[in-house]
Amino acid sequence: MISQDDKEARSKTLKTVREEAEGCTRCDLYKNATQTVFGEGRRSARVVFVGEQPGDKEDIEGRPFVGPAGTLFDNILEEAGIDRKKTYVTNAVKHFKFEPRGKRRIHSKPNAGEIRACRWWLDQELTIIRPDVAVALGATAARALTGKQVPITRLRGSVVESAEGVPVLITVHPSYLLRIPNAAEKERERERFAKDMRKVKELMKG
Ligand code: URA
Repeated sequence: MISQDDKEARSKTLKTVREEAEGCTRCDLYKNATQTVFGEGRRSARVVFVGEQPGDKEDIEGRPFVGPAGTLFDNILEEAGIDRKKTYVTNAVKHFKFEPRGKRRIHSKPNAGEIRACRWWLDQELTIIRPDVAVALGATAARALTGKQVPITRLRGSVVESAEGVPVLITVHPSYLLRIPNAAEKERERERFAKDMRKVKELMKG
């Protein structure tokens, strides 16, 4: 049964929800971040990619996945035959969480309360788009989408259900690939991620 909240969310547009999210104070992360980094893409997207939270560059530019992890992600999507412009890309948490270290801002992991608070926006994005598949890029996204802790290493490449019944493909975060020091292992892990993206493409067709 469709709840009243769902009906209300479906009658909204991504633009209205994005505008509402600009003033979000649902947790404390808005206090230090430059701006809300809302999702980007089409309402007609058949796939929604969910990352963890904006990084330093995303916080400044106000767009998701435009830094180094985003560039790698774009390249692998292209190889898998997925046009990012036809997808929707967002994050579990919409403000940059960081620790100041001198002039640098060091990424800090969002906690369970911050992930829960920000589900308010992710739920609305998913309700409006109703994709064939959502892709959890890493543990934070998997937690946001399923409402539970997900063992990424064990479930990587498999499809589980989100709290609202959307199929969720579990995979790693592209920044994990960037951090692997060994070249051979990096290449192996990149290929596994590319394989997951090919699976996403199949799920989009189905
Ligand atoms: N990492 C994320 O999870 N999201 C971004 O937007 C950028 C880096």
